[in-house]
Amino acid sequence: MSLISRRHVLTTATGAAVAGLLGGSEMISVAAPKRTSPAMIGHRAPPIEEVRIGLIGLGNRGKGAIRRLMLIPGAKITAISDLDPTRLRQSERTISAWGNFPKIYFGGENAWKAMMQQDLDLVYICTPWDLHAAMALEAMKNGKHAAVEVPLATTMDDLWALIDMSEKTRRHCMLLENVCYMRTEMAVRRMCDAGLLGELSHGEAAYIHDLRAKKFSNHYHDGWRLKQSISRNGNLYPTHGLGPISQYMGIFRNDMMIKINSMSSEQRGLTEYAIRKFGKDSAEAKQTYALGDVNTSVIETAKGRTIMLQHKTSQPTPYSRLNQISGTKGIFAGYPNRIALEPDPDKWASETMLDGLLKEYGDPLWKTHGKKAQEIGGHGGADALMDMRLIENLRNGEKLDISVYESALWSAMGPLSEYSVSKDGATVEIPDFSRGAIKL
Ligand SMILES: NC(=O)c1ccc[n+]([C@@H]2O[C@H](COP(=O)([O-])OP(=O)(O)OC[C@H]3O[C@@H](n4cnc5c(N)ncnc54)[C@H](O)[C@@H]3O)[C@@H](O)[C@H]2O)c1
Repeated sequence: MSLISRRHVLTTATGAAVAGLLGGSEMISVAAPKRTSPAMIGHRAPPIEEVRIGLIGLGNRGKGAIRRLMLIPGAKITAISDLDPTRLRQSERTISAWGNFPKIYFGGENAWKAMMQQDLDLVYICTPWDLHAAMALEAMKNGKHAAVEVPLATTMDDLWALIDMSEKTRRHCMLLENVCYMRTEMAVRRMCDAGLLGELSHGEAAYIHDLRAKKFSNHYHDGWRLKQSISRNGNLYPTHGLGPISQYMGIFRNDMMIKINSMSSEQRGLTEYAIRKFGKDSAEAKQTYALGDVNTSVIETAKGRTIMLQHKTSQPTPYSRLNQISGTKGIFAGYPNRIALEPDPDKWASETMLDGLLKEYGDPLWKTHGKKAQEIGGHGGADALMDMRLIENLRNGEKLDISVYESALWSAMGPLSEYSVSKDGATVEIPDFSRGAIKL
């Protein structure tokens, strides 16, 4: 698979200025295509009284999205598409039970394209990763906003194409990064903004989730997630951990991510699991898997701060996103949640103190929307809060919480880490997806 096209890998910089920055090592630059339309910073689209939604992909995630969106005032699912007729019928029944009769798009890999001709305001995409970009591009091209499950896309070309299309059509393209709406993450962000942890210098983010059983089952449509592990080596799922850390650090507000180095350990986990489960002569055991068991990247920001970003889905492990952020006055760490602050920096604060701080810094959105969000549910209400905000912002003609630039930046750690891994951990430049429109 081409991760970064020739067009976008321009130079290996060894000039004096770059060498100074990197201590003499090389940095691979990834060029930004030229902007042809105004940036989408703070963009407000015309308000929409009732948001008509077309949802593509009715699997694990799509089914939950339907249930949530049906309960949000001002949202109306008027079209659905999937390859699987049973899933379509089930979702149709669920939606119809609420007196709403969506149009069904079915009959092959490209049946969803016909949906783009229907009068819709928003296309909500819950399909496998490789399909996200094509679907979101087509949605915006046909005048609809796009909300896309994580990650936004898997190649740099696609990420740039999505930004270009959003800027050209003035349609929103938002990554559905639900972790940014979690109660704890939102409170920690406010602690960071208030300076509780002092000057921030380092964050740790991850997606650590033992997916071996799911990858080798029919949990995912046509084994799409195992196929990703067969063909790609890097951080395949960066956004859940990175989104909140990026927000804590004020990326795109007062700092930028500028470069990444990434390395993967050898692949052992999937093969061993396959031998145990299917036997050593099975096709699964003989298959070659590109994805190293543990991928670790280090991102550096323009202000000289660092983020350690990990991906581990092929080994036995308790779930974690690390969610750690540290500064000159203290540290917050997740899994389990802990905080240590001056003047007692060498011990974790009591649970009572942590609970008090999380309450004190709680995001007002949890006060105004929290009760309903929890009733609707999904990751403790974070999924519902994300959807409620999306619908509310579209109805009010407001800017969306997560810009197309953040959506692309967080997702880009997929292809950029792959590229770095393929070059033996080389330093790869992280482009400014706003192409200079965001001034620090
Ligand atoms: N934010 C979260 O917490 C979270 C959790 C789980 C999954 N996800 C994301 O949601 C997305 C879907 O994951 P999933 O676990 O639901 O996968 P899944 O395999 O359960 O569902 C994918 C669905 O897409 C359908 N599909 C595939 N090709 C299609 C096509 N050409 N046209 C129409 N439908 C098509 C499949 O039939 C299937 O029903 C992924 O991007 C994943 O990363 C996010």
